[in-house]
Amino acid sequence: MSHRRLFLAIVSVLLLTASGVAANNTLTRRSRIGGDQKLVSPGDIFQLGLFPLADNTKWFLGIWFTVSPAAVIWVANRDRPLNASSSGIVTLTGAGDLVLLDAASNNETVWSSNSSSSAAAVALLDDSGNLVLTDDAGAMLWQSFDHPTNTYVSEMRIGKDVGTGAEWSLSSWRHADDPSAGDFRYVMETRGSPELHIWRKGRKTYRTGPWNGVRFSGIPEMATYKGMFEFQFADTADEVSYMYHACDGSPPSRVVLHQSGVIHRMVWDSAALRWSSFWSGPRDECDRYGVCGAFGVCNEVDAVVCSCVWGFLPRSSVEWGMRNASGGCARSTPLQCGGGAGDEDGFHAVRGVKLPETHGSSVDPGGSLEECGRRCLANCSCTAYAASDIRGSGGGGSGCIQWFGELVDTRFIDGGQDLFVRLAKSDLDTAPASPEPVKTKKFVAVITILIIGFGLLLLWLGFLIWKKVWRGKEATMIDDIMIGDCPTYHFETIRGATGGFCPENEIGRGGFGIVYKGQMQDGQEIAVKKLSTDNRVQGLKEFKNEVDLIARLQHRNLVRLLGCCIHCSDRILVYEYMSNKSLDNFIFGACLLTPS
Ligand SMILES: *[C@@H]1O[C@H](CO)[C@@H](O)[C@H](O)[C@H]1NC(C)=O
Ligand SMILES: *[C@@H]1O[C@H](CO)[C@@H](O)[C@H](O)[C@H]1NC(C)=O
Ligand SMILES: *[C@@H]1O[C@H](CO)[C@@H](O)[C@H](O)[C@H]1NC(C)=O
Ligand SMILES: *[C@@H]1O[C@H](CO)[C@@H](O)[C@H](O)[C@H]1NC(C)=O
Ligand SMILES: *[C@@H]1O[C@H](CO)[C@@H](O)[C@H](O)[C@H]1NC(C)=O
Ligand SMILES: *[C@@H]1O[C@H](CO)[C@@H](O)[C@H](O)[C@H]1NC(C)=O
Repeated sequence: MSHRRLFLAIVSVLLLTASGVAANNTLTRRSRIGGDQKLVSPGDIFQLGLFPLADNTKWFLGIWFTVSPAAVIWVANRDRPLNASSSGIVTLTGAGDLVLLDAASNNETVWSSNSSSSAAAVALLDDSGNLVLTDDAGAMLWQSFDHPTNTYVSEMRIGKDVGTGAEWSLSSWRHADDPSAGDFRYVMETRGSPELHIWRKGRKTYRTGPWNGVRFSGIPEMATYKGMFEFQFADTADEVSYMYHACDGSPPSRVVLHQSGVIHRMVWDSAALRWSSFWSGPRDECDRYGVCGAFGVCNEVDAVVCSCVWGFLPRSSVEWGMRNASGGCARSTPLQCGGGAGDEDGFHAVRGVKLPETHGSSVDPGGSLEECGRRCLANCSCTAYAASDIRGSGGGGSGCIQWFGELVDTRFIDGGQDLFVRLAKSDLDTAPASPEPVKTKKFVAVITILIIGFGLLLLWLGFLIWKKVWRGKEATMIDDIMIGDCPTYHFETIRGATGGFCPENEIGRGGFGIVYKGQMQDGQEIAVKKLSTDNRVQGLKEFKNEVDLIARLQHRNLVRLLGCCIHCSDRILVYEYMSNKSLDNFIFGACLLTPS
């Protein structure tokens, strides 16, 4: 018996070394890799295989960046290391499960994808770093992106599937040598206005602030990554999720929840061959959750970081005197709440803040900020309101978040939002006349951020900065155009309408780019002109000319321009679709459009 086993083990080792899978990204049923064999994504961006920690005494199945093997983005057997790489076998079983077996202990299953409800036919590693199991028909059964460890990368979701209750969250490693789940988690809080939280065991340590249509309220830096990253936030009946998309040509990037409890965005610097730090949170004392208590506001540049919102006083001046503000503040004058004519409550604007914790708030995406104020005033338990989407109504924002209890974890921040706090009339009358933020501080800080940002780019991105400068210029020029009469479309909408720019929907192409036929969700047929990105300058000029011209010439015989869309370096025009081909030719001109 033992002879047979030994024989089988030898045979398997021989087979493994003989198969020598060179640059392969696929495992088919019953095929396997082991030892130092790897799956390599088609563009050699990511690799999957066994890697060691703790001086080669523990081995794990993982996925890492080819340029930086220490940058592991996913670990399968987090809790059960192998003693040696030679004993690891990664195989897609006959039942269609991806498993890691330990040949040193009777082929015991150390880790399984547990996807066997339907049998997978292939496992493949793609260039986004996702390990995907699909069935014979190509339908996805399981993906590593649905089981994050301590890292997310471009295209990977963090959030919740409302239907199944599945959660995409990060958990830190226990230690640099131990990838099992440590103390910290990074999760989507879906009550109120969704936001991301870091938890340490049962305690919240950091919040990003709610999504405000553009970025998280507490991370203004997100607006500085134009041309490099785009952010997507979904808040639907099925799913609440957040992810980022790295634009074409961007260097490798990742976001890691470190074992110290810091969430950290890093970008690969191909000149210095190391990861440069773009952002991390919590960034300072004011990001520490609830540091100033209820109705307190934190200001990092003040000598004493905590103060109370106007109209509130420290609950315990003794504790505050000892620099412990976590007890928070209490209202100095009770609210009237419709207590009679001339005595009405009102709102005091606290400008430039990360909005307070939202889980007890209600969110209504419609309506103007003024309406929101009226609604809040009409409900006695409403304590504050703010715009839920900063994009609307000429900068003031639209939509409505209303808070009904204490305001917790509010801080001043550059690029922050306005929060309107309910006060009794007598407190409003004595409030500072124009509660604008201190401009000079803000200005200095903005300049500092700009200088640091440029310094980082110059130092670390070398040749890439050249590209970025070009894109930066374009972006500014395009913004000018967009101020005109061209309504913008969301890139995902256009992508959906054209079946992902499917070649079958192509109706023409030329030096300017490609025209696709598409259908919007409401059934409207559109023609989508995707300008070529090969020649950026020329493409931009054409784009500007075309938008200018068409926007001015709205004539019933002309194809109507419905809108524009800019996504990374893609520039897209959306027209009404004209089924009459001759009119297409007339409009686009034979010299521009050569029918395919
Ligand atoms: C372990 O699994 C490998 C691969 O499936 C197989 O070749 C080998 O015979 C197995 N060894 C034992 C002891 O079952
Ligand atoms: C990759 O592996 C699959 C299945 O094991 C095999 O069919 C294919 O030929 C391999 N490709 C290369 C390039 O080795
Ligand atoms: C791995 O090593 C540990 C400690 O040396 C030992 O207790 C354990 O039995 C080993 N496991 C296997 C599968 O060999
Ligand atoms: C797979 O299922 C087994 C048994 O239910 C469980 O112990 C194991 O943790 C699961 N593995 C994964 C990766 O979920
Ligand atoms: C700070 O004050 C809170 C309540 O006001 C109290 O629970 C906490 O123990 C105090 N912290 C310290 C470090 O004294
Ligand atoms: C005030 O708002 C709360 C919370 O949304 C709600 O439960 C309550 O019914 C409202 N009261 C009135 C009078 O509308």
